[in-house]
Amino acid sequence: MRLYFFSLGYRIIRKMSIIVYSIWCFIVGRTYDLEDVSDFGNHQMAKLDSFPFGLFYTFSIPRGLQTSFFGHNFKSPLIAASFQSDKKALLRWLKFGLGGITFKTIMADSRVGNERPRLSEVIIAGNRSIINAMGLPGEGVGPFVDSIINEDVWQMDIPFGLSIGGNNKEEYINVFNAMNQNLSSKFPHLFYEINISCPNTEDGKTLSENPDELLFVLSEMRKECRNPIIVKVSPDQDDNSLLEMVETIKPISDIGINAGNTSYMNRKDVGLKEHLFKPIGGGVSGLPLFLRMLNMIKLLKPFNIPIIATGGIDSGQKAMAALNEGATLIGMASALIVDPYCIPRINQYLASHK
Ligand SMILES: Cc1cc2nc3c(=O)[nH]c(=O)nc-3n(C[C@H](O)[C@H](O)[C@H](O)COP(=O)(O)O)c2cc1C
Repeated sequence: MRLYFFSLGYRIIRKMSIIVYSIWCFIVGRTYDLEDVSDFGNHQMAKLDSFPFGLFYTFSIPRGLQTSFFGHNFKSPLIAASFQSDKKALLRWLKFGLGGITFKTIMADSRVGNERPRLSEVIIAGNRSIINAMGLPGEGVGPFVDSIINEDVWQMDIPFGLSIGGNNKEEYINVFNAMNQNLSSKFPHLFYEINISCPNTEDGKTLSENPDELLFVLSEMRKECRNPIIVKVSPDQDDNSLLEMVETIKPISDIGINAGNTSYMNRKDVGLKEHLFKPIGGGVSGLPLFLRMLNMIKLLKPFNIPIIATGGIDSGQKAMAALNEGATLIGMASALIVDPYCIPRINQYLASHK
């Protein structure tokens, strides 16, 4: 009951905030930017952190959902996909019942990302989804590493993923080294995820298009650490090149695949005008990805490599479908933006359908 009302309340408040904000933008002649609403939402949700007893967001994970991923124990197979830079939000979602989280992709240096607006809701084939071309804004690897080491809260027993980005192979390796030298030995539950598939940076695509370079980067990483390394692939990569890529990298030990990232679309093909979305195109996430994600898991199953299913999962049925196809963990981004109460809902569904 508590879950039902809070979820409903969250969705109503989110919708109302969007409506009120758009009216305000219209009145003052300001450009509508969904990122403002999202930042506002994160800010407001942070206030719940000081609420006694965590009434709004503490949901226990039902028994029986424990999942082992490369020997690491996830209390639930649900994890946050790499997209959220607000660490407080990630911690809150853990209390909602995630089994682990992945930090937003970290680049070598601090970046402001692409020109705004760069985040929008769109309807694709009748499905409400999100398009983003954030351009990997972030603090850069140095400050990121410091923040993880210095905040006690990350010392807990929860597995987390560090997503590595780069504009070329040297940059990927540099970002990895900065993380590995400072974090790998301190955090035994840490896994690395290499983002070869982000469609927001022109050069960021190269590794997914060049399996030999990818193999080089992975081999360099493997020389330095024993932590699992997950390769996050794109739903836009065609089946043959995906198979060729996995065939190339499978000799590396403790490799997993995250299927997958957002799917690139031109802004005009999703009905967006330039003043509402500055970049020429961006990555679509949410429901339109679901079937492609399932197909990728089927395709990769014969390799017997652990898989994280990411793309359009927002319900217990969809999570179950991905697990039944052979995924070990379930990554979620859009569903957490739209309604984080989906976490306990999905956990309950999975527990009662085991
Ligand atoms: C606003 C936003 C930012 C994202 N940033 C990243 C990122 O930094 N690194 C990454 O690997 N994926 C990023 N993603 C992709 C998500 O991790 C996920 O792969 C994708 O959204 C598909 O999952 P979903 O359908 O559950 O949203 C981002 C997605 C969104 C919506």
